[in-house]
Amino acid sequence: MKRLSTISKKSVDQADHANASTRVNPALKTIVSLRDAARECKACDLWKDATQTVFGEGPSRAKIMLVGEQPGDQEDRVGHPFVGPAGKLLVQALEQASIERDEIYLTNVVKHFKWAAAAKGKKRIHKKPRYSEIHACRPWLDSELRVVKPEILVCLGSTAAQSLLGRTFSVMRQRGQPIKSALAPVVIATVHPSSILRAPDADARHLQMQAFVNDLKIVAEFSRKAKAA
Ligand code: URA
Repeated sequence: MKRLSTISKKSVDQADHANASTRVNPALKTIVSLRDAARECKACDLWKDATQTVFGEGPSRAKIMLVGEQPGDQEDRVGHPFVGPAGKLLVQALEQASIERDEIYLTNVVKHFKWAAAAKGKKRIHKKPRYSEIHACRPWLDSELRVVKPEILVCLGSTAAQSLLGRTFSVMRQRGQPIKSALAPVVIATVHPSSILRAPDADARHLQMQAFVNDLKIVAEFSRKAKAA
């Protein structure tokens, strides 16, 4: 199987899903009912090694939806998105951008943790999801979009951005710029907070954090305009 970065498809867009193995019952009209249904999802093999499905969370009338890649080790254990180190950094950045945590809906393109055992010790090492896994999971994200109907959709990192906006999408080149898309009135991509955690030193980390906060300030400005409209 090919990785997302080498897939030949344009993107995992809504039209591509006619054959997705997940069938989300259109009668499920609330996040709570979707989350319940997703607990049983076996549309790809990731459920086998994961502790549980980690569904999106936040107000179902949120104006802003943030989409990451997949739950990490801690998210998998506790069952909530963005509660680990990347999530903590995200919360700090949101605060600095004056975005309230409770005005956003947080989710991932893949709802199960994909990992491999470290060569030594008990650590579980994050593995990037394959195209087929993102494709199998996409109907859940589409359902979240259908229910929440965010004004502003924010892709965190290239897995989310390329699966939602096309495989040629470059977060580095196009971050912070509104992208024309049918997914939401405003669609913006920025880096994944975990990339900031991987910065080589404190100075680089500080600069990357500032750039991330600046992107989120653009999101905050669109949110203010949406509220005022
Ligand atoms: N990284 C993600 O993309 N999502 C999470 O929920 C946690 C870490």
